[in-house]
Amino acid sequence: MSDFIEKDEEQTSAPEAKIHSRYICTANHGFAPYAQEELRRLFGAVKSTLLLPGEIFLATLEAEPEEVSRVLAGHLPIFLRHIQPVQFQDQGEMSALERLSVYLSRRSELAGEKVSLHVRKGGSSFWPDSPGELREWLQGHLQELGAEFTVHEPAYVISVYAAGDALYAGVSRPEDNLSSWNGGMIRFRKEDGQISRAKFKLMEAEKEFSIPFQSFRNAVDIGASPGGWTSFLLERGLKVTAVDPALMHESLRKNPALKILRKNAGEVKFQDNEFDLLVCDMSWSPKLMAKLVTGLLHSLSPGGTAIVTVKLMHKKPMAVIKEIIAMFEDERMQVQRAKQLFHNRDEITLYMIKY
Ligand SMILES: C[S@@+](CC[C@H](N)C(=O)[O-])C[C@H]1O[C@@H](n2cnc3c(N)ncnc32)[C@H](O)[C@@H]1O
Repeated sequence: MSDFIEKDEEQTSAPEAKIHSRYICTANHGFAPYAQEELRRLFGAVKSTLLLPGEIFLATLEAEPEEVSRVLAGHLPIFLRHIQPVQFQDQGEMSALERLSVYLSRRSELAGEKVSLHVRKGGSSFWPDSPGELREWLQGHLQELGAEFTVHEPAYVISVYAAGDALYAGVSRPEDNLSSWNGGMIRFRKEDGQISRAKFKLMEAEKEFSIPFQSFRNAVDIGASPGGWTSFLLERGLKVTAVDPALMHESLRKNPALKILRKNAGEVKFQDNEFDLLVCDMSWSPKLMAKLVTGLLHSLSPGGTAIVTVKLMHKKPMAVIKEIIAMFEDERMQVQRAKQLFHNRDEITLYMIKY
């Protein structure tokens, strides 16, 4: 039996019925409980069912979709990476896909619009092939809509999740999904000669926080070895001072725009306002990292930007993050965003500006 939105609307019109909306919610592996906690703090009671342990869950929120979007936009979560509305639910079987095609073909707002089709599969899905093949199948069955299917700047996103025993789908504006990437999974191609995978974190921060790296001139990279972040900053045209007792990759060592200090961050001395960008991806306990970095903040000019990775070290993440943010705020840093990026493992990224 399919469960269409029209049915939900009928139910909510009864006087005693509570307004609710349902979402498939995604966090980095192991962080779903913190994403659930974020939703609880924002919306009160949250009914949720795990779809993929530690990572993906179905949540029912006691709020209308417009309110959910408004509240989330005003309190961007740290761990909740992506949401997609569930307006259609059916059995996990091939015939349900036919019913989904009929349902979507009737969504008149999609007609003639630019539409992205995001398809994901659960661990054991009734759909035997790849999500890409399911996307093609659906696209082929939605020709009547007259929509322009695209990955770039769509007006609407159709999100489909094919689990083992159920098929879920919904239509939303891309800005209402917390990320315009399918499941919030932003992927970059590994370049020839790329020094470290850590570089992807800074590339993602650039896109996610819209940071104009090319507008900075002089950066300090703390905990820089082997040099993925440094290479990214050099590519954006910055002068870089790299601080790390470990060796930088040999491809960087002769770069005239790079100064390498093979030292512990606690041993270096800088002048006031020497840099307009400070980045730190140091593998160190969060509190010690924050102590070392705040000790160097005098070298960041007012208006300067800092991007800092905070390792969570399997401790209580919410409490750790609160403590670290307070340490930076005491040093004239205003936190613009705190977010677990798709490329963050047991860590989050802070984006701050000095005032
Ligand atoms: C995850 S790696 C950084 C990767 C780098 N961002 C990249 O893109 O290649 C962490 C680095 O922090 C450095 N580190 C740890 N403690 C440090 C300290 N007290 N001072 C300076 N560097 C430190 C380690 O030597 C290590 O090279």
